[in-house]
Amino acid sequence: MAGTHRSVRYASCPAYAKINLYLDIKARRADGFHALRTVMHAVSLHDDVTVGFAPGALTTISLRVYGARLPLDSRNLAWRAAVAFLEKAGLSGTVHITLRKKLPIAAGLAGGSSNAAAVLRLLQRLTGTPLTQETLFSVAASLGSDVPFCLAGGTQLCTGRGECMRPLSLGRPLHGVLVTGREHVSTPQAFALCDTYYHDFDGSVPHGAPLPALITALQEGTLPDAATCVYNVFEPVILPTCSHAAAARAALLSCGAYAALMSGSGPAVFGLFASAEEAEAAAHHLGPAARVMTSAPPRA
Ligand code: C5P
Repeated sequence: MAGTHRSVRYASCPAYAKINLYLDIKARRADGFHALRTVMHAVSLHDDVTVGFAPGALTTISLRVYGARLPLDSRNLAWRAAVAFLEKAGLSGTVHITLRKKLPIAAGLAGGSSNAAAVLRLLQRLTGTPLTQETLFSVAASLGSDVPFCLAGGTQLCTGRGECMRPLSLGRPLHGVLVTGREHVSTPQAFALCDTYYHDFDGSVPHGAPLPALITALQEGTLPDAATCVYNVFEPVILPTCSHAAAARAALLSCGAYAALMSGSGPAVFGLFASAEEAEAAAHHLGPAARVMTSAPPRA
């Protein structure tokens, strides 16, 4: 959706959450990041992002956030996305960003990264596509490891620190229930706890699950038969410290989920169900902390 107000042109889009259907850490890198192998999947739960832009000699940015208490300056990744975009495009002007938050913060759903990716996409649209796709993705990667995925959407096998992507086909949409609570996890802390738990990934603590089987099941739409392939390396590290998330994971399974898993570094947990009706019934049973979700629609 796009519109005009004085000389400022506005555009809006949903900023979808992601879940990790598979997340393994291969190694700790010299630069402090971790080499990942992860399958990210965009889901229908989303924030709404509006960006206004008017060209001008000076760059000024304003940020409004509804539905959450977040910093309204350069500490917010959405703000930094606007700055990085204009710098790379050689543009200046007034940028108004509005975030309508519905996604939980620090939950493993890439809400902040998704907001930043939406700002990039909207500025690209409002300024007449000044950046090549390659440059846009490099700006995304400079903002954070999950931002390129949030820009691409769909289902992707992500490697490197998360920014290298290969699209995966999805035989049929997934139906799930997401459960979030009051617990929060800091991503850097979660990685540091993993370093200790897995002995700096020296190979002495076994981890991982068969990724090729998961990819085949996603392609063929047979994930319910390959439910043991979903995997998150963070689970044994984080779930013992998040009793609500651990209980929610167990409750999802007892409500009929064919798989239940923590997303990212947590603590949001999701269950996958064979049908939308089963997901609805489970969410109803689990109460207000549970939300029904499905695969996000393809990008317009
Ligand atoms: O890339 P991003 O800024 O989202 O990462 C936040 C933090 O998560 C990093 O500073 C790092 O501590 C950790 N991280 C990591 N390895 C990754 C991605 C993130 O160690 N692949």
